Amino acid sequence: MDTHYRINKKQINMKRILLLGACVLLVITSLSAQNKGNRQKTDTAKEQSLYVTLANGQVIPRLCYGTWQTPAGEVTYNGVSEALKVGYRHIDTAFDYGNEQSIGEAVRNSGIPRSEIFITTKLSASVKTYEGAKAAINQSLANLGLDYIDIYIIHAPWPWANVGEDYNKANVEVWRAMEEAYKEGKLKSIGLSNFNIADVQNILNNCSVKPVVNEVKVHVGNYPRTLVDFCKNNDIVVMGYSTLSTGALIGREDIQQIADRYGVTLPQLCIRYSLQHGVTPLVKSLKPTHMAENLKVNFTISDDDMKVLDKLPNYSIGKFGPPMPYEGK
Ligand SMILES: NC(=O)c1ccc[n+]([C@@H]2O[C@H](COP(=O)([O-])OP(=O)(O)OC[C@H]3O[C@@H](n4cnc5c(N)ncnc54)[C@H](OP(=O)(O)O)[C@@H]3O)[C@@H](O)[C@H]2O)c1
Repeated sequence: MDTHYRINKKQINMKRILLLGACVLLVITSLSAQNKGNRQKTDTAKEQSLYVTLANGQVIPRLCYGTWQTPAGEVTYNGVSEALKVGYRHIDTAFDYGNEQSIGEAVRNSGIPRSEIFITTKLSASVKTYEGAKAAINQSLANLGLDYIDIYIIHAPWPWANVGEDYNKANVEVWRAMEEAYKEGKLKSIGLSNFNIADVQNILNNCSVKPVVNEVKVHVGNYPRTLVDFCKNNDIVVMGYSTLSTGALIGREDIQQIADRYGVTLPQLCIRYSLQHGVTPLVKSLKPTHMAENLKVNFTISDDDMKVLDKLPNYSIGKFGPPMPYEGK
C-alpha cells in the first residue's frame, strides 16, 4: 500500500513536471510568434515607404521636410520645431538657404536624440575647389552646431550663373574633399543634387566613395524617368524635391479630381506619387496642419492613375528655379 502510494505520488509529480514544461513551451512559442509578427510589421512598415536604406547601409526616413526659402531665425526655428513635433525626422537644408543655424538650434532643443534626426545639407553650387569644399563642410558643421552631417550633397553641377557649363574636373576635386570628410566621420553619406546622367557618371568614374543620393526635381507632370532609372541602376536613391512644384500644383483641377477619387488631398496624392516611383519626396510647409496632413500617405495609387499623372503637363516650367537639363519625363 505504502509502495503503491509512493509510486502514485511519483507519477503525479512527473505529470506535474510534464504539464509545467508544456506550459513553458507554449508561452515561449507564443512569445516568439508575437515577436516574429512585430518584426514582420516593422519590416513591412519599412518596406512601405517610411524608410529607405542607402547603398552604404545608412537607413534614412523617406519623407523629408524642406526648408528652401524659409527665412533664418524664428520662422525656420518654429517651422522645424513643429515639423519634428508632428513626426518628421529628416530635414533638408543647404548652405545657400542661409538657415542652417536656426535648423541646428531647433534640432538641439527638440529633446529628440540626435541619432533619430537626419539632416541633409548642401555644398554651395558656387564652391568648385577642393579647398573651398573642405572649408564649406566645416562651416556647415559649425552653422548647424552638430558633430556630423547625415547627408551632404553638391547642390548643383555648376554655379547657378553658369548652368549647363562643364565643371567635370572641378566636381571631382570637390568630391575628393567630401570623400575625405566622409572617411573622417564628419559626413555619414555623400551625394549629389541636380546632377544629370553625364554629371553622375563623371563622379562614378572618378570616385573612391560612390554617391548614394541624387536630389532632383520630381513632381506630378515632371518625372525624369531616364535619370531616375539610371540612378536606381547605380544604387543611388533619388530624393525628389519640390513635390508640390513649390506650390504650383495646388488647386490644379485635373490632379484634384484624381485625389478626390482616393479620398485624399492633392498634396497627399502628389507625395504618394513620388513614393510609388521609388523616390524620396521633399515637401515644405510652414503650417502645422499641412505638415501633419503630408505625413498621411498610406494608400495606393493604381498603375493606370500613375500613368495619367506621369503624362500631365509640367505646370512649373519656367516658373520656379533654373531649367533642369533632364531628358525624358
Ligand atoms: N536641391 C535643390 O536644388 C532643391 C531645389 C528646390 C527645392 N529643394 C528642397 O525641396 C523642398 C520642397 O520643395 P519646395 O520648397 O519647392 O516646395 P513644395 O514642397 O513643392 O511646395 C511648398 C508649397 O506647398 C504648400 N503646401 C505644402 N503642403 C500643403 C498642404 N498640405 N496643403 C496646401 N498647401 C501645401 C506650402 O504652403 P504652406 O506653407 O502654406 O503649407 C508651400 O507653399 C525645399 O524646401 C527644399 O528643401 C531642393
